[in-house]
Amino acid sequence: MTAPASTRVAGRAPDTPRHEITTPDELPEEGPVELSLRPQRLAEFIGQPKVKETLRIYIEAALVRREPLDHVLFFGPPGLGKTTLAELIAREVGVNIHTKSGPSLEKPGDLVGTLTNLRAGDVLFIDEIHRLRPVIEEFLYPAMEDFKIEIRLSDGPKAQTITMPVERFTLVGATTRLGMLTPPLRARFGIEARLNYYPASDLETIVRRTADVLKVTIDAAGTAEIARRARGTPRVANRLLRRVRDFAQVRADGVITEAVAQSALQMLDVDQLGLDDMDARILRTIIDKFEGGPVGIGTIAAAVGEDAGTLEEVYEPFLVQNGFLHRTPRGRVATMAAYRHFGYEPPAPTAQPELFGD
Ligand SMILES: Nc1ncnc2c1ncn2[C@@H]1O[C@H](COP(=O)(O)OP(=O)(O)O)[C@@H](O)[C@H]1O
Ligand SMILES: [Mg+2]
Repeated sequence: MTAPASTRVAGRAPDTPRHEITTPDELPEEGPVELSLRPQRLAEFIGQPKVKETLRIYIEAALVRREPLDHVLFFGPPGLGKTTLAELIAREVGVNIHTKSGPSLEKPGDLVGTLTNLRAGDVLFIDEIHRLRPVIEEFLYPAMEDFKIEIRLSDGPKAQTITMPVERFTLVGATTRLGMLTPPLRARFGIEARLNYYPASDLETIVRRTADVLKVTIDAAGTAEIARRARGTPRVANRLLRRVRDFAQVRADGVITEAVAQSALQMLDVDQLGLDDMDARILRTIIDKFEGGPVGIGTIAAAVGEDAGTLEEVYEPFLVQNGFLHRTPRGRVATMAAYRHFGYEPPAPTAQPELFGD
């Protein structure tokens, strides 16, 4: 067995859960600044009222019963707060969090150290849990269900195994691709929570809070402008705010007004509505190459060079929700709003998506 990747924290420190990150590059988008922007309590987590409310109830019930929280699965597009919520759970319950990333776990041995070092109630957070190898999944089943693990002592058909107990813990999984989770793994989570894109009003609150943390002066119109262009995503809102702040410092005495936000975002090539490069490619491809659709998701995926599942679970929900894309029985169709947004001549009425019957 290799040395455990986790080190024990002496004494429980509820307000400072230990963040155990295996290698820095496992969290490519998380810089130190982003980490410092994370809400520290569930009450500071903005929006997603349903998720927050259910979590609060389950956490409280578990605390009252003095039992670990049931295993929790968060799913939804990137940047909506899955990692943040995993950390908040640990904080609210008053336990340590041990973080792993699905693709980095190669063999059961990579988890043995962490699992055997868990304290009762601790959170094991596995990000990108849809990318776990089958051997790891199978190793996790008895750990999740019966809090025991089976360790093979040797290889081959007569391999000896020993069974070891682990403390009752909470597995928190996060995924952008719920559809890629195997049914037996998914079935072992007692709590499932979907994160949705945030309305502009929530994003404004997030921008204001981040501006406070970063000590940036921003007015209401500047806040609204950034929030509106953040693709419904807190991570994007925070990133835009930081870039606009740079611009404001160099060009505008450090104060972010609507005009400053607009010029900065224009310079950054951020679309008026915050659509990103892939959003734009998807819509333009449907319009340019497939006469606006209907066209199958697999065909779009091949044309834009992205995996169909990722398009369906990461990009499409935002485009559908914002009225740029229709899903019809015969495929995806670009809406009038998409044509207008990219400055295309709208198609003749007969080619419109509403008439998708044959
Ligand atoms: N509801 C929220 N309120 C405040 N900040 C948020 C919220 N959700 C996400 N963030 C911020 O957005 C960034 C991305 O969140 P993260 O939890 O890493 O998303 P995910 O794990 O879903 O990709 C973090 O800096 C986090 O602080
Ligand atoms: Mg994350």
